[in-house]
Order: sequence, then C-alpha cells, then structure tokens
Amino acid sequence: MEFITYEQEGFVGIITINRPKALNALNSQVLKEIDAALDAVDLETTRCLILTGAGEKSFVAGADIGEMSTLTKAEGEAFGKTGNDVFRKLETFPIPVIAAVNGFALGGGCEISMSCDIRLCSDNAVFGQPEVGLGITPGFGGTQRLARLVGAGKAKEMIYTAFNIKADEAYRIGLVNAVYPQAELMEAAKKMAAKISKNAPIAVRACKKAINEGLDADMDQAIVIEEKLFGSCFETEDQKDGMAAFLNKEKVSGFKNK
Ligand code: CAA
Repeated sequence: MEFITYEQEGFVGIITINRPKALNALNSQVLKEIDAALDAVDLETTRCLILTGAGEKSFVAGADIGEMSTLTKAEGEAFGKTGNDVFRKLETFPIPVIAAVNGFALGGGCEISMSCDIRLCSDNAVFGQPEVGLGITPGFGGTQRLARLVGAGKAKEMIYTAFNIKADEAYRIGLVNAVYPQAELMEAAKKMAAKISKNAPIAVRACKKAINEGLDADMDQAIVIEEKLFGSCFETEDQKDGMAAFLNKEKVSGFKNK
C-alpha cells in the first residue's frame, strides 16, 4: 500500500493514513487502501483498532480537493458513495475503532473520525466541515453523523458557517471524548485500546452492535436487539470464565475470545 501503514501491537491494530504532502487528504486511492486495510485485519487476534494520521500537523485535511475539482454530477455522487461505503465499513467494523485525531480533521477528516467509535484528539486538533465554502455539501456522512453526535442545532451552525473549532470546543460539545498534549495522544489511545482489549472480546463486539443498531431503531426494537445479543453471550466460554473467576474471587486470567 502506498498511503496506509498498519502495525499490530498485541491485540491492537494501528492504521495510519500516510499522505503527509497533502496533509493526509483522502483521494480515491487512499479510500481504496483504507478499505483493503480493514479487510486485512485479523479478527481472531485483533480486539481494537486505532486510526490516526501521519505527522504532527494533520489527521486528515478532508477529501482531495484536486481530485474533486473536475467531477461531474454522476462522478460526484459515485465519489460520495465510495467514501460513504468505506466509512460505513469502519462504523460497523466488528471491533471498536478509536480515532487518534492528531491535528486537522476537516471535511472528510472530521467525517472519518465520526465513523469511529471514540475520538481522542491532540490539543492542536481542529475540526470543521468547510464544504459549503467550496461549493459542496459534506459528502462522506457529515450532515448525518455530526447532527447525531452533537445535535442538529450545533451541527447546522458548524456546517452552514463552515467555521472550524479547536480541540477544547470539540470537547465541550461532545465531539471528542478527551484532549491530550500532542506527544501524549498515541499513548493515551493505546492505553484505552489495551483496556478495551482486556475485556471479553465477544461481549465488547456485541456492545458495539447493540449500541449502533439500537440507535437506528425505536426503543421497543432496540431492547430486543440488546436481549438477543445479551443471550448470545451465554454461549461463550468467556462468559463462563468471567463469571467463574468472579465467584471464585479471582481475576480472569485472560479472555479466550471464544
Ligand atoms: N485536498 C487536497 N490537497 C490538500 C487538502 C485537501 N483537502 N488539504 C491540504 N492539501 C494540500 C495543499 O494543497 C498543499 O499542497 P501543496 O503543498 O502541493 O500546495 C498541502 O496539502 C499543504 O497544505 P497547505 O499549504 O494549505 O497547509 P496550511 O498549513 O497552510 O493549511 C489547511 C492547512 C488549513 C488544512 C489547508 O490545507 C486547508 O484548508 N485544506 C483544505 C481543508 C478542506 O477544505 N477540507 C474539506 C475538503 S472537502 C471534503 O472533505 C468533502 C467531503 O465531505 C467528502
């Protein structure tokens, strides 16, 4: 791959978007490679992913403006679909994904971070949806996910004004879970990923599915989604090991992911 690097540290996989000359902007090739990187993750041995950008200035500075500048209506729609398909794959990826937002997260950059389960950012991070200043709408899910994350009023303000916000404001409105000094961001993301990876992996995956699918359903259906997933845990060795350890006043010595 030209623009993506993948590292495995224990149970944690780290995907880095590595196109620093364009501040990690997403062109078709980068999107294709993110898709391929997700396909290549070994779900037997990986329990959490971290997504970040190369360098200290930018997470992702958006979709590639050069590539988009000459698109026709049909091509624009197809480009939007390509991004949306990859971001939806990330959002529904079986294991949790933490975005370590290490700088600019503009347009498609803000949008890809919102497709992750949890956003941690550095103190120099900048979030925004600048698309209307370029004559387009947010096209990789921004109109949908920003409104769901921070509420329609704040999302509309950010999107209509195309105004960027800094890390502290992103934290204040609930767009990010926590802000760290740049030098501490990756360690914090790894620490959180390690904590997640220590828990019963099948149960963690079931929680992700229950939250995601439940949010798209009404409460009566959502509760049934939870019940089914809760029930399915009782077929796992991890449930037996976890509860036996508690009853024996021991710490579970490591979940088997079975
Ligand atoms: N697409 C293509 N190239 C980009 C880019 C993008 N989104 N963002 C930055 N770059 C390139 C610049 O063109 C520049 O390349 P050259 O050195 O070849 O000229 C290089 O990255 C460095 O950028 P700057 O010189 O502009 O760096 P800066 O520090 O002065 O400014 C910035 C940084 C404020 C992030 C500025 O680059 C910027 O405003 N970028 C565009 C941000 C943006 O509008 N993103 C939304 C894109 S639209 C979108 O994402 C649609 C969608 O929803 C699908």
